[in-house]
Amino acid sequence: MASAATRFLLLRAMLLAAAIAGVLSDPTPLQDFCVGDLQAATTSPPVDGFACKPQASVVDDDFFSTAIAAAASTNNPFGVNSTRATASTFPGLNTLGVSITRVDMAPGGLNPPHSHPRASELVMVLKGEVTVGFTSSVNRLYSKVVRENELFIVPRGLQHFQLNTGAGDAMFVAMFDSQSPGVVTPTFAMFATKPAMPMEVLTKTFLTSEDEVTAMRSKFAGF
Ligand SMILES: *[C@@H]1O[C@H](CO)[C@@H](O)[C@H](O)[C@H]1NC(C)=O
Repeated sequence: MASAATRFLLLRAMLLAAAIAGVLSDPTPLQDFCVGDLQAATTSPPVDGFACKPQASVVDDDFFSTAIAAAASTNNPFGVNSTRATASTFPGLNTLGVSITRVDMAPGGLNPPHSHPRASELVMVLKGEVTVGFTSSVNRLYSKVVRENELFIVPRGLQHFQLNTGAGDAMFVAMFDSQSPGVVTPTFAMFATKPAMPMEVLTKTFLTSEDEVTAMRSKFAGF
């Protein structure tokens, strides 16, 4: 039986964990909406979202966007193209804690392993067949073949990929619980950083030679 003092400590630890979890998601808005003023952002860079456009000048179109209406070209080495509607391309999303990305995929197209530091990702396949997988923090891979109108959830911050395993083109939308989920792609974050990641870090990380690291760097230099 836990003593009163132990129970008090446990309660405090639980409250602290809840407070930290609260800080990890986008903050709750304090007004109906705050259409992002992208113009203002050019003079004073935003720290946490954009300043609000004056309420009197907000119009219907501020809540509407064609940002992901058109298919994007998949004519590139990965056969994939992501079109994002985040707060910076759809200012009406500012402070609302949601955003969406459209991903077009050629047959065999791959959205390489990456993660979103600020959001979970709800995948909905609208065309074709996409194999989606994510890796947990104990390196367990969870993966499913997802077809039209089916869903797959990638928990916040975990590394994941999407591969078109169908016969034709594929398209899915990814919905995020952040207006700006961010994206970290380890291949780029290691082989295409500016300035370059130290050679010794890469040879030791991959247990490999400088020649192989140089070859990898040149493959990713163009992106
Ligand atoms: C993505 O699609 C847009 C619109 O079709 C195109 O301008 C852009 O070059 C494409 N990006 C890549 C990496 O293929």
